This record gives sequence, structure tokens and C-alpha cells, in this order.
Amino acid sequence: MENNIKKIRVGGASGYDVLIGSQILGDTGAYLGGIFSPCKVALITDDIVDKLYSDVVLSSLKAHGFECIKYVFENGEKSKNIGLYAQILEFLAQNGLTRSDKIIALGGGVTGDLAGFVAASYLRGVDYVQIPTTLLAQIDSSVGGKTGLDLPQGKNLVGAIYRPKLVLCDVALLNTLPADVLACGKGELAKYAILDRAVYDLVLNNAPILDLVFACVGYKAKIVDMDEHEHGERRLLNLGHTPAHAIERLSGYTILHGVAVSMGLGLILKASKNLGYITDSQLLDMQGVIEKLVGKVSCPYTIEQIIDNTLTDKKREGKDINLVLVRGVGDCFIQKMPFNGLIDCFL
Ligand SMILES: NC(=O)c1ccc[n+]([C@@H]2O[C@H](COP(=O)([O-])OP(=O)(O)OC[C@H]3O[C@@H](n4cnc5c(N)ncnc54)[C@H](O)[C@@H]3O)[C@@H](O)[C@H]2O)c1
Ligand SMILES: [Zn+2]
Repeated sequence: MENNIKKIRVGGASGYDVLIGSQILGDTGAYLGGIFSPCKVALITDDIVDKLYSDVVLSSLKAHGFECIKYVFENGEKSKNIGLYAQILEFLAQNGLTRSDKIIALGGGVTGDLAGFVAASYLRGVDYVQIPTTLLAQIDSSVGGKTGLDLPQGKNLVGAIYRPKLVLCDVALLNTLPADVLACGKGELAKYAILDRAVYDLVLNNAPILDLVFACVGYKAKIVDMDEHEHGERRLLNLGHTPAHAIERLSGYTILHGVAVSMGLGLILKASKNLGYITDSQLLDMQGVIEKLVGKVSCPYTIEQIIDNTLTDKKREGKDINLVLVRGVGDCFIQKMPFNGLIDCFL
């Protein structure tokens, strides 16, 4: 096994390790063997990731005495639905997966959320391992235990917080990502750069991707340790997301989430400046780092359209708007904003 592995513990003694390295996928069997006795393992993955990486994972698992079954579904957000979830549960039952067997989620955030929710609910919960294969999944969705599905009425409306037993992050897998999927992850990376000074400095210094993933996971782990169930600090991870969700809805979801997040970050920085929390020069510096990651992104919607869309959505929910605002790099906070006059702070 490779020596140069970075490790982050999430959730203390009863928690789980996130192992981050390069070219470690072929050691999956050894890592699982370190925490589980030989058993049956159900690998859940999408069709694209299956062609690229399933064989490496399965042969490593088999070499370490695990019996393997595999479920492959069509890649994309549309698969994060109850119909497919039910099919996977039935597949596991037909194949006799028991309470002492394991599930592996091999893929991006869609696979992690779907397979994680299967693991949370099949037989009232079986152990699972996340092997995230997109940048977004490595720095965000695979850590923190949020699992879930979409409904026709909206995204992520069903779910559970269910901790994995291990997260294996192999940054070499990012080399095969299509440009748009990578850009999506970089939008989330830009979010971490504003939330955390360590990530910001690494981006400025052109640090290798392994160090960036390590720093982002380290920050997320710290937040999740403070607030696993999102009553407080974890809401900071929504930085840029309120406008981003409006941008995604306005585009009919043709603008990818992470790209919308990078647009949303720009708007939130502007609002933070207009409200007097940051200076012009802080704004420029932070915009510079975002641009370094995602390039110049221009939002195709007016601020009026974005606010209108947000207000319609929030008023329907009957909630105030909690915006994550910025006082400086590594210094973000949540502020409750009134519906009326919201637009003024963005103009
Ligand atoms: N649970 C959480 O905390 C959390 C946080 C953020 C986002 N999410 C969820 O994550 C999902 C988005 O995740 P995503 O952007 O990873 O999408 P995804 O899982 O759909 O992956 C994007 C595309 O990349 C392909 N792909 C994955 N890995 C690849 C690789 N190494 N090489 C080539 N192609 C690869 C996939 O087949 C897919 O077509 C959303 O459903 C979102 O709700 C969850
Ligand atoms: Zn996000």
C-alpha cells in the first residue's frame, strides 16, 4: 500500500477516516480488509464510472477475500430517484445481502447520495464506504454523512444523515473528469477558499490538487464535527448557494450546480461589500482567487431575476432568508435578511 496517504478523522472515536492519496484505488481491498472481516460487498456505481474503475476495485476486493456483487445505473442526477432506489433495495435483497455485509458507493455525488441512502435504510442500516470520483464528491458530498434522493417536487427532499465507515479519496481519478464536471467541483473549491484561509492560501500558491482536497476535507470535517445535523456552523457551507439555487432554477438546471455556486459567490461578495462588511480591495482579492479557480464566469441573469426567483421560493416556504455573508477570508457568518429590501444589498 502507498505510504503517502493523508488521513482525516471525522466524528471522533465513533467516526470514520477519510484517506486521501493518489493511485490508491487498487488498494481498496486492503483498506476494507483493515476494518471489515471478509463478507459480501455490493458495489453501486454509474455506467461511466463503472467502465473506468469498477474492475480495479472489484479485483482488489476479491484478492482480499470479499465476495462482490455490482449494481450499475445510468449516470446523472435523474437517477437520484425513488424508483431506482427501490430497484437497488430489491437487487440487494435478491442477492441475499445481510446486515453484516457492506455497500460501496463508487462515483460522484449522485452515487454517494443514492447508495448512501440505500445503506442507511436497507435492513435499517448496513455499513458503507464512500469512494468519491468527482472533485465535488471528494471535497464535499462524500464527507458529512448526508445521503438522499430527489422527488419530482424538488432536489434532496428525502434523506438521512448516515455516516460512512470509510471514505477513500483517490485524486488520480480526477484525471478522467470531463471539463464541465471538473468546473463544477472547482466552484465548490472556490467556496472553501472564501470559508477557509488555508484553502485560500493553497489556491494562491498553486498547490497540488491532493493538498487542496486535504485542506477542504479538513475544513468540512471540522464543521461537521461541530454541527453534524446542520443547526449552526454547517450552514456556513451554504455560502453562495442561495443565489446559486435561483440561478440553477432559472436555467432549468442547464447551468451546473458548482458553476452556479461560483456565480453565487460573486453576488454574495458584492452584497457583503455593499453592506459594509468588506472593502473594495478585499472584494477584488477574493474575486481574483475565485477567478483563478473557475475563470471568468458571467451570470446570464439580472439580479432582479435572481432575487425574484429566490423570494418566490422562500415565500412559498414561508421562511426568512438566511444569507451567508463575508467579513473576510475565513470569516463568514449567517445573517437573517428581511424579504423587503433584499434587492438593495445586491445592486
Ligand atoms: N451529500 C452531500 O453532502 C452533498 C453535497 C453536495 C452535493 N451533493 C449532491 O451531489 C450531486 C452532484 O455530484 P457530482 O457533481 O459528483 O455529480 P455526478 O455524480 O452526477 O457526477 C457527474 C458526472 O461525472 C461522471 N464521473 C464521475 N466520476 C468520474 C470520473 N472519475 N471520470 C469521469 N467521469 C466521472 C459521472 O458519471 C457523471 O456523469 C448532486 O445530486 C448533489 O445534490 C451532495
Ligand atoms: Zn454545493
